[in-house]
Amino acid sequence: MKKLKLILPLVLVSTMIFSSSTISYAAKKNSAETPKLVDEASIDSVISAMTLEEKAHFVVGTGMDVSRVPGAAGATYAIPRLGIPSIIVVDGPAGVRIIPTRPGDPNKYYATAFPISTLIASTWNTTSAKTVGNAMGQEVKEYGIDILLTPALNIQRNPLGGRNFEYYSEDPLVSGEMTTAVVDGVQSNGVGAAIKHFAANNQETNRIFIDTIVSQRALREIYLKGFEFAVKKAQPWSVMSSYNKINGTYTSESKGLLTDILRGEWGFKGFVMTDWWIFEKAPVPVTQMKAQNDLIMPGGTLTSNVIEQPNIIITAVKNGTLDEKVLDRNIRNILRIIVKTPTFNGYKYSNKPDLAKNAQISRQVATEGMVLLKNDGFTLPLNKGASIGLFGNTQIETIKGGTGSGDVNSGHIISIADGLQATGFKLHQGLLNNYSAYISQLREKEQYKPYVSLLGKVIPPIPERPITISEINTAVSGTDVGIIVIGRISGEFADRKNEKGDFLLTDLEQNIISEISNRYHAAGKKVAVILNIGGPIEVASWRDKVDGILLAWQPGQEAGYAIADILSGAVNPSGKLATTFPMTYSNVSSAANFPGTPPQNPTKVVYAEDIYVGYRYNTTFNIKPAYEFGYGLSYTTFEYSDVILKKDNVDKNKITILTTVKNTGKVAGKEAVQGYISAPKGKLKKLKLELKAFRKTKDLQPDEKEILKFELDIKDMASFDETLSAWVVEKGTYEVKIGASSENIKGTASFTIDEDIIVEKVKNVLTPQISISNLSK
Ligand code: BGC
Repeated sequence: MKKLKLILPLVLVSTMIFSSSTISYAAKKNSAETPKLVDEASIDSVISAMTLEEKAHFVVGTGMDVSRVPGAAGATYAIPRLGIPSIIVVDGPAGVRIIPTRPGDPNKYYATAFPISTLIASTWNTTSAKTVGNAMGQEVKEYGIDILLTPALNIQRNPLGGRNFEYYSEDPLVSGEMTTAVVDGVQSNGVGAAIKHFAANNQETNRIFIDTIVSQRALREIYLKGFEFAVKKAQPWSVMSSYNKINGTYTSESKGLLTDILRGEWGFKGFVMTDWWIFEKAPVPVTQMKAQNDLIMPGGTLTSNVIEQPNIIITAVKNGTLDEKVLDRNIRNILRIIVKTPTFNGYKYSNKPDLAKNAQISRQVATEGMVLLKNDGFTLPLNKGASIGLFGNTQIETIKGGTGSGDVNSGHIISIADGLQATGFKLHQGLLNNYSAYISQLREKEQYKPYVSLLGKVIPPIPERPITISEINTAVSGTDVGIIVIGRISGEFADRKNEKGDFLLTDLEQNIISEISNRYHAAGKKVAVILNIGGPIEVASWRDKVDGILLAWQPGQEAGYAIADILSGAVNPSGKLATTFPMTYSNVSSAANFPGTPPQNPTKVVYAEDIYVGYRYNTTFNIKPAYEFGYGLSYTTFEYSDVILKKDNVDKNKITILTTVKNTGKVAGKEAVQGYISAPKGKLKKLKLELKAFRKTKDLQPDEKEILKFELDIKDMASFDETLSAWVVEKGTYEVKIGASSENIKGTASFTIDEDIIVEKVKNVLTPQISISNLSK
């Protein structure tokens, strides 16, 4: 019996021995001709030559201690006898997160800190997003890494989400388009991207235990839509499942999510990995394997439970609770990607990515995603060489990005003070010296000393420096303009709070704004605020006091230079909000249901706002935000004309909208133009506005025009009908609205659909187990 198997081709052997146990493994081990992984065609014979022990170890990572690339997030299990190398994965959304120093090695392994994803989305420019992805991919490749654990595209459901800075937008189309562009850019280098966290992981509070209770419609239209878009358009090499449950089932154990939807409906061809340390106990690894969560990360030897993971799988195969074919399928999913990796293909990496070139990309994209929120009487740009009274700690400790796995160890961060001075602005030296001295003194104190945690460097925040009236008066008399920097940082593991010092300004910050504005205004001079933040804060209570507000976000390592480019007018701001700035926190549709119940230790969060997230809520329920989705000013003005709708004669399912945008101001500039749909009332509830397409003009010279073309498919009009498990376009008249923002519609055209159309039938999965009192209108 043994001999017979050995003389058969290995593929055949594998099909014969699925249900056999130890004898067959021994037979495979003794095989004279051990197959090697050489290409995709060799995968099946390699799998059939693997022992059960090898298989079980292969679907679990090898821990976070990756000696070849210190600081990498993890690696896969190598089986050298079969030609299977270990591939390396690394974080994250703002660039390659590795440790910059290596013992006994004088070289430095810095990576470029690009702007946070929320800023990238605010560019409304997929070409810029792709350029960033491409630059990150080069660093991945040159540092000997195979897969970058990015983009992260969870929806910014609530402004207090601690990791919102790593995510793009409250809107799934913006998230999906940006993700597609970044994945295309990363993968054009022959390395992979792992999009995360799949799915409905919209908070940090209790993220490992939280059960997200959400309607199938909101899931399909809001929380899965961006992933669907990116999987279909960009085929990322990998998808990372999230920590949370959806309607009672952990995403990594959800066959409905990972097999039926991701692969069955969307055609995903890569492999799925868990998020880090998601579970540790049996029988979870078995359920994960069955769901087609192919790889359990990070594995390793840190805890006994993690060490047990392969054994749980071995036992399950032996006792018949896990079919070995399931394991083989998952291994195949991973190997199909491994054969594409630089490590497998023997790429000779340099450890010397072009950091100088990427710093320029980081700076340029940072300027493109900054949003000018207010600019009364042309406060900005400043006159060349203007003298500035610069206030706020963050002018010196400028924030490049958020904390946790989304952080990057860059070689430098250009502070706002340094950036402005390098651009020829004169800072009030007395003020600058006072801030510098204050910060260095506090940093000497034990409680404010930076330290290194498991996830990187932690810099304890220093309290804002109080200023005296006489200090303000001296600055007013010695400078042309006052600029106040307000900073906020958040990160992995914790959500933000609707409290002073976080979403709200502190009393001191409010006072500083009032006092400085009063005194500069009394002297006939202006005041601007720079927001160096990762997500919305409350602005309505103080914005009227100042003349200009630049939302610089957390713009990456070149922060100071990029901000100076905007303040000097070298770059005309063209960013617009991809997330709403509410008037007050209570105006947020999920405010009453974030971060879940019971309040002290939430285990359940009900998405009762349903499909009304962000501007979908504001526009449908007439709630005026402080700054709406899609909003952003420029140093020039634009005129919109001729919103023309064409139905294609050849393909009646396609609609083309043309609109003309003209630069009517005095300087060149770009405009982000948005195409929304208003659907007719029908059986299903409908939104007042839903973004369906966007375009950014080229850099238009004064008086120059551009005709922008938006192409929509009838399918894009569909709503998800839970009773039919189908995407349905209901009959009636649809309005296409072309806008400069969600509140500033410039032109409308309409078309009519005569009959209800069922666009696509899908599987009835991820059903809520309890009834939800969903918001409705
Ligand atoms: C994060 C992931 C990250 C992983 C590896 C987890 O804590 O949620 O986004 O990729 O760690 O660092």
